[in-house]
Amino acid sequence: MNICVLGAGYVGLTTTAVLAELGHDVICIDKDPDKINQLRQNHVPIYEPGLAELIKNNSNRITFCTDSQKGIIKSDAIIIAVGTPTDQDGKPDLTYVLSVIEELSASIFSYKTIITKSTVPPGTNEMIEQLLIKKGVKREYFDIVSNPEFLREGSAVYDMFHSDKTVIGLKKHDLRSLPIMREIYNGLEAPFIVTSLTGAELIKYANNAFLATKISFINEMSRICDAYGVDIEEISKGIGTDPRIGSQFLQAGLGYGGSCFPKDLQALYYAAVSKNVTAQILQAVQKVNETQIDLYLKKLQSVMPDLRDKKIAVLGISFKPNTDDTRYSRAVALIEKLISQGCRLSAFDPIARLPEHVLEKANQAETLEESIDQADCLILATEWEDFIHLDWKHVKEKMKGNIIVDGRNCLEPEKLKALGFQYIGVGRG
Ligand code: UDX
Ligand code: UDX
Repeated sequence: MNICVLGAGYVGLTTTAVLAELGHDVICIDKDPDKINQLRQNHVPIYEPGLAELIKNNSNRITFCTDSQKGIIKSDAIIIAVGTPTDQDGKPDLTYVLSVIEELSASIFSYKTIITKSTVPPGTNEMIEQLLIKKGVKREYFDIVSNPEFLREGSAVYDMFHSDKTVIGLKKHDLRSLPIMREIYNGLEAPFIVTSLTGAELIKYANNAFLATKISFINEMSRICDAYGVDIEEISKGIGTDPRIGSQFLQAGLGYGGSCFPKDLQALYYAAVSKNVTAQILQAVQKVNETQIDLYLKKLQSVMPDLRDKKIAVLGISFKPNTDDTRYSRAVALIEKLISQGCRLSAFDPIARLPEHVLEKANQAETLEESIDQADCLILATEWEDFIHLDWKHVKEKMKGNIIVDGRNCLEPEKLKALGFQYIGVGRG
């Protein structure tokens, strides 16, 4: 099938590569000419394991271009994968989606299946349908499908091949789209969950909200564990064996970040409020997440009361390992708080760079050695595999102080204490 993907971000590029691998001809459009130029020269502008290889292997079936009209006219199905960031009030900003609808309305002259993959608030796809009609697109020329993604950055390619579900939201009387969606995903084993347009939008939000709830739950439990001298890892293991709970997303630490959880929880909260529903659990989940950094700072200050002029080495800048993405990264938020306390920051990450506004006030170390050299304290903020297996004896020799803050509960406290470190984690007995 000829498919057009609008947006060459994490989701758009992964979708492009996987659909090409499944045998489709894919035109991937992005308004950013620089990004498209890089992609044409076989350079993938984001770090996502396996993605560059998959794009390269399928280059005969992939076209990158900036001309959306060309892509739309040539394709049977159009996938919307532009970003939906949060505006200043925390509400979803649909500017990019609306601008894509504008482009679509000017380019539809024969039947197209329009598939929204971008995460959008409940009711958006219904609105898109009305907007297209208002802008003069003939109703018989399109159907709209809500098909949210559940990809994790860092394992997006794997996730798309091994998804647990394909959610398909359709209009009640739409008989054309389902067979088309089956053809698009032919070759993937994930079962189809067919629902209404708004149902699909809400499944996406509920999925992310539930996962974020698990994280805030275990972080709250870690606070209780601290008070009772119990190891949170044992609690996670203990409850994770119950299949009704499941073992994943029970890792206590600095909390969740990234381009999805923080914005999707806020968006779902506002969607509820706009219909006069107070989403108390969502409020609490966000509150626990926001205050998690303060908890670590308090713990650090209990052993180092005056943070002014202390050199702090922060290992990890990205919002999680295996990605260069720093959107809503807890590591970056922590660095900003430490700067406001007067610390001297030296951050190291194997891939990610400090955002511009932080770079003015903190040092981006080019090597781990530079970061830890003469540091008073080391904070592990993102659990990159390399950081977990450091030569801690050597680290101790390089540092001036002996405090280790384990922001992801991924190190072995006893081993570190034996080397002379003061270890700080959450809920670790
Ligand atoms: C995706 C989803 O679309 C978002 O809704 C979801 O919640 C998270 O994942 P992501 O792929 O991370 O977003 O977005 P981003 O990396 O910001 O990429 C979006 C791309 O769309 C950018 O390259 C941008 O240049 C492009 N774009 C944006 C267009 O091509 N046209 C536009 O009009 C707007
Ligand atoms: C998430 C969803 O998992 C994915 O299905 C959705 O489509 C997009 O949002 P992503 O944001 O890429 O994916 O990463 P994820 O692995 O879910 O982690 C999100 C954040 O939660 C990270 O900051 C991570 O460090 C944190 N996290 C995760 C924890 O703090 N504890 C855990 O147990 C798991």
